[in-house]
Amino acid sequence: MSSDTKTENSRGGFGSKIGFILAAAGSAVGLGNIWRFPYLAARYGGGIFLLIYLILAITFGFTMMLTEIALGRKTGKSVLGAYKEADKRFAPLGWLAAAVPAIILPYYCVIGGWVLKYMCMFITGNGGDAANSQFAAGSGSSLTFFEHYISLLGQPTLFFVLYVLIGSVAVLLGVEKGIEKVSKILMPVLLVLIIIIAGYTLTMDGAMDGLKYYVLPDFTDFTVTKLLKTIAAAVGQLFYSMSLAMGIMVTYGSYMRKSDSLEGSVRQIEVFDTAVAFLAGMVIVPSVFVFSKGDPAALNAGPGLMFITLPKVFDSMPGGQIIGAAFFLLVSLAALTSSISLMETVVAAVMEKTKMSRSVSCFAVIAFTIIVGMLSVMGYSVWSDFELMGMQILDFFDFISNNIFMPILAFFTCILFGYVIKTKYVEDEVKVNGDKFRSVHLYRIMIKVFCPICMIIILLTPFVTDI
Ligand code: PHE
Repeated sequence: MSSDTKTENSRGGFGSKIGFILAAAGSAVGLGNIWRFPYLAARYGGGIFLLIYLILAITFGFTMMLTEIALGRKTGKSVLGAYKEADKRFAPLGWLAAAVPAIILPYYCVIGGWVLKYMCMFITGNGGDAANSQFAAGSGSSLTFFEHYISLLGQPTLFFVLYVLIGSVAVLLGVEKGIEKVSKILMPVLLVLIIIIAGYTLTMDGAMDGLKYYVLPDFTDFTVTKLLKTIAAAVGQLFYSMSLAMGIMVTYGSYMRKSDSLEGSVRQIEVFDTAVAFLAGMVIVPSVFVFSKGDPAALNAGPGLMFITLPKVFDSMPGGQIIGAAFFLLVSLAALTSSISLMETVVAAVMEKTKMSRSVSCFAVIAFTIIVGMLSVMGYSVWSDFELMGMQILDFFDFISNNIFMPILAFFTCILFGYVIKTKYVEDEVKVNGDKFRSVHLYRIMIKVFCPICMIIILLTPFVTDI
């Protein structure tokens, strides 16, 4: 509906409710769901983690996401203008909310480039090379393909730049013609792909043991400390998975139509995000389990799981080239819609602040992404000896955004909406189309008490998930 797209000052907007839901789900579903969620679930007692995650999603995740989307829709502005309009004293939060995606976007695209490379290898039938661990290192030892690959400069740069350019097409085309269209095509494809891959992996011999390990709760050595660690890991994961405290939901909310249900949309985004994460676990846990002959330690490979362990798993399974190609296509699509949302958030802020057109702002953001992203690429390559606070450059960007800026932003967002301008601000926005706010009591207690406490825990225990 073109009349809806011309909102105040022609910022553009989503043309349909489903378009908004799929775009927000596209942002939420990303590397976090496919790679991080399954191994956290495996590490923190299977079913126990799943249950805790689910409870947190419908309480904590719901509250934070609803607040951000409501702020965006009410103000119709980018993060910079939105926080300022809510309360002048909180304007710096808007800058923080714009800084987070600007920090994440470049390195997320570097990882996106790695995924693209793997996808191309599997599609061209060379997935076996990715499973090779015999690359010579200087001192006579050997490197995995992944370690070898990221130590190069040319190819990782090429795939990184290619990935940025692919993602920027949707942002350049605008909200309705670009982001909404792309999400409406890619998200259903992604869902079908993951269901097919999960169905296939579950038919393998021994997969059922892996599935049991994934979904049944494991209470052995279960202590209060372990429970607390599990909760902290689940909050951290949820936060990242639902793209909270990155300004994204505020930006996408600002493009949402006033007539659509806010509460209902948030519930649907949550279901989509959680379902994809759960299905990803049904692919990864059983397949790694079969490959490692039931040794759960293989799942603990952390970041190496996706780029080192999984290619070996695909290489060893019948039809693995096809499944591997489908899997890395799935991951590429998931990562792409997430980076589009990051880029859109930064572009919207630049457009608002500088009054430049969408295309000029977009080119400026592309240039910034490539320049800053190159620091991460070089951090593994020619600058591999360089460390920031004991971390590689990419890890450092990841650390300051996820462990410091995001919890601070979320904490002050709770204070702003819980105590300063009060919950009525969001409540009114939820009811603006005549809807009832069904979870209003839950919302109030969460935003005032539970969510800020969770944020303090996250801020104080950055190493609790050992990642
Ligand atoms: N929500 C994404 C995921 O689960 C993470 C993400 C989205 C990160 C957008 C950055 C930007 O992977």
